[in-house]
Formats: sequence, C-alpha cells, structure tokens
Amino acid sequence: MEGQGKGDPDVVAGQAREFIDLFYDEGNGPGGSAARRMAEIRAELASTGTYTHTADELTFGARVAWRNSNRCIGRLYWRSLRVRDRRGTSDAAEIAAESVKHLVEAGGGGRIRPTITVFAPDRPGAPGPRIHNEQLIRYAGYRQPDGTVVGDPLNVRITELAQRHGWRGGAGTRFDVLPLVIETARDGIELFDLPPEAVLEVELTHPRYPWFAGLGLRWHAVPVISAMDLEIGGIRYPAAPFNGWYMGTEIGARNLGDTDRYNMLPVVAAKMALDTSSDATLWRDRALVELNVAVLHSFERAGVKITDHHTESNRFLTHVEREREAGRICPADWTWIVPPLSGSATLVFHRYYDDADLRPNYLRRRCPAE
Ligand code: ARG
Repeated sequence: MEGQGKGDPDVVAGQAREFIDLFYDEGNGPGGSAARRMAEIRAELASTGTYTHTADELTFGARVAWRNSNRCIGRLYWRSLRVRDRRGTSDAAEIAAESVKHLVEAGGGGRIRPTITVFAPDRPGAPGPRIHNEQLIRYAGYRQPDGTVVGDPLNVRITELAQRHGWRGGAGTRFDVLPLVIETARDGIELFDLPPEAVLEVELTHPRYPWFAGLGLRWHAVPVISAMDLEIGGIRYPAAPFNGWYMGTEIGARNLGDTDRYNMLPVVAAKMALDTSSDATLWRDRALVELNVAVLHSFERAGVKITDHHTESNRFLTHVEREREAGRICPADWTWIVPPLSGSATLVFHRYYDDADLRPNYLRRRCPAE
C-alpha cells in the first residue's frame, strides 16, 4: 500500500501556508490570523511531521476542492457542501458503517444533498484508509468465459478484486451492487455488503414508449465518488467519499450508451424500429435522445433529484460569472464541461475557459487499486 503523506515537512509547510493564506484571505477564522495559525502548524509539523486541520479549515478546504474541480459542471453550489468530519475513523467496519450513513443522509429519500465524509488522513509512516470502489454504489461486471461482460464493464477489475477477497458474487444480474472494498494498514482488504436501505435506485421507464420498462434498466440515485484523494494544504485524505446529484446525460448518454459500458443504443434503436442500415440515418442520435428522456422522466417521477444538461450549463455560466466577480478564475476543462449530448445546443460549448490545477482539490489516486 502506498501513501505516506508527502513526508517532507518543509514541503507540507509551504502547501499549508498557501492554504492558510487562502482561508484567511477569504474571510474565515474571525479573530485569528494566518501568521499565528502558521506558527502553530509549524510547531505541530516539527514534533509530529504532520498537522491537523481545524473543523473550519476542513470544511472550507473540502468546499474549495469542489470549487477547483475543473471537470465538474455542477459547481454553482460549492458553498453548500455538507462536510461530515469523521477524521477519527480509520477502522474498516466503522468506515463502512459511516459510508452507509452517508448514503442515507445524502440521498435524503430523493432530496439529494451534496455531502462529503472525511476519514483519517495519511500520516507519516501511517497511511490512511482507502476505499477501492470508484463509487460507494457501483454495479458488478462479471467477465464471462467468452469475454463478454454481464453488468457494468467499467467495474470488472473491482468485481474481480472483491471475488479474490471472498465475495461470492451477487444474484448475477446486470445491476448487482458491489460490496465496499476497504483497505487499512492494520487489517488489509475487507469487504462490506451495502444494506438495501443505503441503495436508492430508479427503475427506468419512458413517457411515451411502454416497451421501455421491459428493458429492465435502472440506475442508482446518488453518485458518491470514493476513489479520489482530497488534498488540503499538503495533507492527503485518501478516504473522503463525496457526492452531488446526477446530470441525466451521465447515465443516459455515457453509462447506458457507451459501447464499452451498457451499450444500449442498438437495443433502443431496434425497439424504436429505426433504420440502422446506415450510420447516416442518425439512429444512434435518435436512440440517445430517447434514452436520456427516459432517465430524466424516471428520476422525476420517482421524486429523485436530477438535472438536465441545459439547466446545468446555464448554472455553470452563472457560477463562472460569480467567480469572476469574486476576483477568481474558474478553472474548467472544456472537454469535460461540454455535455456528451447536444453540446452545441448548450451555452457552455460556445466559449473557452481558463484552466489551472489549483489546490485544495480532489485528485485521482496516484496508484490505482490493482
Ligand atoms: N459520471 C459518474 C457516473 O455516471 C459520476 C460523476 C459525478 N457526477 C455528479 N453528478 N456528481 O456515475
């Protein structure tokens, strides 16, 4: 297992300094000062090789990490992120239990609330815990002898990792929820099944095509990213699952539409009786739209919060404008911000963005699970 924190106290002190300056510059920590706080941090670094964020620093850091996420179109509400401080938790069973609570609280029975739970950080010589699942809820991908996959091909590796650690597999459907695969320095890898009450899902139907329900498609309501490190002021939190709510295209265009995911466009096109004899009939495009209509319709009918890409584009441009007024750039990666459906029909398509790699941020794992 990798991850000893950054180690070098001088490097950490420099990163802490930048963060603490930002914290005070943006009006936090009334009555305190960056200089006084840095003196404390330097002393703690000298004696322990690391330092401990205050609860306010952690909350601010997690929110700014969202604000700095250049691939995320949903950042307008970055200030509303709810931060669950569980830094005292490093035991795998407790992490699993807190992850279940996160799912229930953040799911809100459909009133989804952007939430992060922060578990123990990496410390020098003592790596923090890790959740190997890319999200808390993911569907298994079972590789078949003929090379095809039942379920989500994205998750074949984590499915096989779970199986190697004793998971006997689910019912064998296309939508079996994977167990949490949690690794700690003390106990290695352990598995935890998610109880049904933690897994809010929506069955997909279509407002005009009765046959659509018969496809048996569904998706989970809350996307909780669990395999990114939260980095704040030189401190790494390797287990810090966070969620927003879905934008329909993530499910309707990518998860269900991509050829290396559920690859549903040919199936939907056949049911719609589209002419698939040539690419130029645009059968894929027409199937894609109806798949996305089904996703938005089904979530709305189920009372589960979701957003469409037009609404979210407009919100994002409001966010960019607010950031400009606050004297900040809004780092953004055009290739991720522009939605995968009807790009040019959304305003975010018709401009370029500053991009920058700012801290705090959510970072992809340096060393992938397997
Ligand atoms: N695209 C990912 C998925 O389909 C989720 C990424 C985060 N999305 C979000 N709306 N917060 O599961």
